[in-house]
Amino acid sequence: MRIYEAKDYQEMSRKAANILAAQVILKPDCVLGLATGSSPIGTYDQLVEGYEKGDLDFSEVKTVNLDEYIGLDHENDQSYYYFMHQHLFDRINIDPANTNVPNGMAEDIAAECERYEELIRSLGGVDIQLLGIGRNGHIGFNEPADSFDKMTHCVDLTESTIEANKRFFASADDVPRQAVSMGSGTIMKAKKILLIACGEDKADAVAKSFFGPVTPEVPASILQLHSDVVVIADTAALSKCPGVL
Ligand code: GLP
Repeated sequence: MRIYEAKDYQEMSRKAANILAAQVILKPDCVLGLATGSSPIGTYDQLVEGYEKGDLDFSEVKTVNLDEYIGLDHENDQSYYYFMHQHLFDRINIDPANTNVPNGMAEDIAAECERYEELIRSLGGVDIQLLGIGRNGHIGFNEPADSFDKMTHCVDLTESTIEANKRFFASADDVPRQAVSMGSGTIMKAKKILLIACGEDKADAVAKSFFGPVTPEVPASILQLHSDVVVIADTAALSKCPGVL
C-alpha cells in the first residue's frame, strides 16, 4: 500500500485524477469503478478538465458505481445515478450505455444485486476502483458488521451514516434507510484501488483502516489485504496515522 499526503482537497483531487487519467490513457477501454459523496467531486472536476483540454477520451471507457440508495429514482437529485450524471457523465464523452449504477428502484433487489455482480464479471472486472471512506470506516455502503460481505447486497444503513449523509437531504427522515452496495469481496476483486480521504473527521477512520487490525468492524481495513492500493489523503485525514507525516 502506498499512502500519499496532499496538502488540501484540491491537491488530493488532482493527484487522484492523475491516477485515473493515466488508467484511461493506458487502457482506453478500461473499467472504472466509481464512487459518490463529497470526496470525489473535485477528482471528477479534474477529469472533466482533462477531457475539455483534449487530453482524455472516455468514448470507450466503461464504469460501474459502488452503490445506490434504495427507493430514489433517477430524477431524484440525491440518487447516486443523478450525482454521477451531474458531476461526471454529462460533462465528458462517455457513452451513457457504458455507465452502470445499481438500480435502487428494482422490484426484486436480490435479483438486482445478482445482476450487478454478474455485470461486473461480464465486463472483465474493475481495472481501478475509486473509493471514499465513511466516518465509521465504511467503503461503498459496507457498514461495520460481524463479517465482510462478499457480493453486491442490500444494506441497512447505520444511524451514523444516516446522520453523516443527512446534510444532503431536507432532514434525516428523508435519508433512505437502505442501499444496494458492492460487497467488500466485490471491491477487493478490483485490480487496483484508489482511496481518497479529506478532513479531520476522517482521521480516525483512516488510522483504524490502515494501521489497525483487519476487522469487519472497520470495513476499509480489508484493503490492507489487497496487493495494489493507493491512498491519497490530506494532512488532516492523516493526522492520526503513526509515522506517516
Ligand atoms: C457515502 C458513500 C460512500 C462515501 C461516503 C463518504 O456513504 N456511500 O461511498 O465514501 O459516503 O462520503 P463523503 O465523501 O461525502 O465524506
